[in-house]
Amino acid sequence: MKIFSGSSNKPLAEKIAHAMGTQLSPIEIFVFPDGEKRIQIQERVVDEDTVVVQSTATPADANFMELFFIVDGLKRSGAKSITTVIPYLGYQRQDHVFRDGEAVSLDVVVHALERTGATKAIAVDFHSIKIPEVFSIPVGHLSALPLFAEKIKALVDGFLASPDMGGLRRINKMSELLDGMPWIATVKNRDLDTGKIVIDKIEGDFSVIQKTAFIVDDMISSGKTIAQSAKLLHAEHGVEKIYVFATHPVFSDEAPKLLQESVVTKVFVTDSVLIPEEKRFPKLEVLSVADIVAAELRNER
Ligand code: R5P
Repeated sequence: MKIFSGSSNKPLAEKIAHAMGTQLSPIEIFVFPDGEKRIQIQERVVDEDTVVVQSTATPADANFMELFFIVDGLKRSGAKSITTVIPYLGYQRQDHVFRDGEAVSLDVVVHALERTGATKAIAVDFHSIKIPEVFSIPVGHLSALPLFAEKIKALVDGFLASPDMGGLRRINKMSELLDGMPWIATVKNRDLDTGKIVIDKIEGDFSVIQKTAFIVDDMISSGKTIAQSAKLLHAEHGVEKIYVFATHPVFSDEAPKLLQESVVTKVFVTDSVLIPEEKRFPKLEVLSVADIVAAELRNER
């Protein structure tokens, strides 16, 4: 098996290769002055099983194009199979038409990936359980929840919180992993035109609320969902320690500053998205998904 990396998350690709007992195979990603890219696969892959690791967070469009070019280069070089490891799948929140006239962006990028020649996709914690249905190729849908559950077990006792009602399946799953730890959800309303969110009430059995909360989400983008959910738990329900567990650190806008200055105690994320140095903050801890991806590649799940 030959493993190649795009430029979006090479440290994770290296860790995955290491966990597979190998090294990354050489590839040239040349950027022209106008920003266009030229990809060259620099190792013989005829009749080989190949893997490409590429996260498609910011800049999503450029990262997707680079992934398509790598897949095309592998196909034209005679690879037997091309497994695309896309730890964070960009555009997954636009998986259907919310308002008349909208494009289904996820459909577009998945079809392009398949048309280019990908034979399998591996991703971590999709936003919705229905996303694998968009693909025609096999999908390995992995989860960071077991990694998070281990961390939670090592902390003091508390309760789980979903920051919105869309996360109920996830919070139920986490509760199962933690022997039925009780949970509540904060209720989020988003204005579809402005994107503004409001979190001002709780759904569930208030009696489960203790001094320590574990908020679980799939991603942190602007950080507003987490900051508002935590603020409600702290200010109106007396929760003193709030640990956040979110798989994908997309960290747009001022998310790191907002989280650092918020009432949350600590923020656990994974390396599904590479966090640049300037976006790291003291409350942050990063866990790696390399081993779970490697297990899937070895077909050990
Ligand atoms: C929404 O449904 C997701 O699960 C996340 O809660 C959301 O995408 C986080 O976005 P932000 O950090 O911008 O509030």
